[in-house]
Amino acid sequence: MCGIIGIVGTAPVEARLIVSLKRLEYRGYDSAGVAGFTASGVERRRAAGKLKNLEAVLAAQPLIASVGIGHTRWATHGPPTVGNAHPHQAGRVTLVHNGIIENFAELKAALTAEGRVFQTDTDTEVVAQLLDRELGSKPPLAAFKATLDQVRGAFALVVMIDGEPGMLLGARNGPPLVIGHGDGEMFLGSDALAVGPFTNRVSYLEDGDFVAIEHGAARVFNQAGQPVDRPAQVVPQSPALMEKGNYRHFMEKEIHDQPEGCQRTIAAYVDALTARAAMPGGIDFAVLERIQIVACGTSYIAGLIGKYLIEPLADLPVDIEVASEFRYRQPALRPGSLVIAMSQSGETADTLAALRWCQARGMRSAAVVNAAGSTMAREVDVVWPIHCGPEIGVASTKAFTAQICVLTALAIAAARARGRIDAGEEQRLVRVLLEAPRLIAESINLEDAVRGVAAEVAKARDVLYLGRGPMYPLALEGALKLKEISYIHAEGYAAGELKHGPIALVDENTPIVILAPFDSYFEKSASNMSEVMARGGQVVFITDPEGQAHAPAGARVVVTTPRCDPLIAPLVMSAPIQLLAYHVAVLKGADVDQPRNLAKSVTVE
Ligand code: G6P
Repeated sequence: MCGIIGIVGTAPVEARLIVSLKRLEYRGYDSAGVAGFTASGVERRRAAGKLKNLEAVLAAQPLIASVGIGHTRWATHGPPTVGNAHPHQAGRVTLVHNGIIENFAELKAALTAEGRVFQTDTDTEVVAQLLDRELGSKPPLAAFKATLDQVRGAFALVVMIDGEPGMLLGARNGPPLVIGHGDGEMFLGSDALAVGPFTNRVSYLEDGDFVAIEHGAARVFNQAGQPVDRPAQVVPQSPALMEKGNYRHFMEKEIHDQPEGCQRTIAAYVDALTARAAMPGGIDFAVLERIQIVACGTSYIAGLIGKYLIEPLADLPVDIEVASEFRYRQPALRPGSLVIAMSQSGETADTLAALRWCQARGMRSAAVVNAAGSTMAREVDVVWPIHCGPEIGVASTKAFTAQICVLTALAIAAARARGRIDAGEEQRLVRVLLEAPRLIAESINLEDAVRGVAAEVAKARDVLYLGRGPMYPLALEGALKLKEISYIHAEGYAAGELKHGPIALVDENTPIVILAPFDSYFEKSASNMSEVMARGGQVVFITDPEGQAHAPAGARVVVTTPRCDPLIAPLVMSAPIQLLAYHVAVLKGADVDQPRNLAKSVTVE
């Protein structure tokens, strides 16, 4: 999950490394470091904590170099100290790493027995030590290959070798690594965003590849060491989407981006003129036996909402499971199923492994992703992009609603293909979906009301979120958002499970957020609300105008979202729970865009 960048430049790289690391901070921000070939040899600068600490170090001790590497860390092995910050060095080698070296303990023992002295607690240092040892008897590329042949695990690496000042080496096995093709300059980075400020021509390394970049040239080899061609592609850049504009945080901006983002998503999957839904890619939903969704985090919750939409509408069974469980438990699958990987980044290690597991068993595969050039997007039979633009805030918001838009369109398209709805009903549902961006915007306009609720919730130690039907996954998402950015303990529960445990938590200090539009579940949710209030619970009731009119008296706070068809209620009711978490976190002074211990792209298990 760390972010890495390497530049073989013709001009100074210090400022450019920092620009790139800023774009990579979403991958981790426990520490940061850079290194470069200076007039006096390889030098590095490192700092614990956020990138601004490294910037302060560089202000005091600039790094004068035109070839260099940089790293922003999400700690796996060893605490986030300066000593454990990348780049790591051993002899002639200085390198940055993203991933985990699984056999580092045995390699470290062997290298220590040979008399090598380790400076850090990291798994990464074994790669530097190993490569330095191999360089004793081999030229750089051969030494690098010999090193790669000995390490096991997930890694993306960028390496400098003292005495080879015009070259950087890179390797990929698992976490992504891209080559950026500049004008007489070459780049290596964790993703296209990292090299985006310098070039929009990018090639993607495949698993097992390694590369040597020099001024104006990149030589790529596969795992066997044979030269391979990884053609450059032009990637669209959208710098505006990388800026916060007038917003205080990316998360706030991305919440407000949702009407426009969802509009773009919906436009890709429905034809507004004919009011038909279509999922490109040639999947025949009429004969499909089952959908298996695999995902992690918020993407998992979006997939769960998809299950609530697709099964009743299309009579198509949908299984969904967190990828980290799915990939190891030998699930019973049938080839007539379609696996759908849901992932904003398209790189999450567990989701990718679960996807590959299904592909290896003959299943057709699709990916609902935001990052168009990501590994998942490149490996599946069908890509369904969500088109919401780069999401920077670690807590996912606009990608979540865009994912739901794709699955809503899929539910409609599958229902029609399977003869569950006629053309008239398809048109009605498509028109409902087309209304969603406007209604999401109205929902976002409730921000002032939500800010008032946030002042109360910010005082709580525990918060309970309850919902039924599609509001149950949304309750999970509300709780996830709150805990990840405000550090308040929160739990999402199916409201029907209230009496099976969570009711024991209810007291006058526990806010209970109940999500209940006026739908077929409403009466039951209202009963749960009464049960909670009878025990002194402080209810935050998120509903629509009809729900408000029928609510049991006594709800402490009511947030009234616009009236909408149940099909799009998960979209319309998302903004209040996102804004609630956001404003609670702001009131608590938390680092909204970079919450502690989290990272946006989880490329290790
Ligand atoms: C991390 C992020 C979450 C995200 C999850 C899955 O935990 O902090 O926001 O939902 O990974 O990421 P993906 O890129 O696969 O959607």
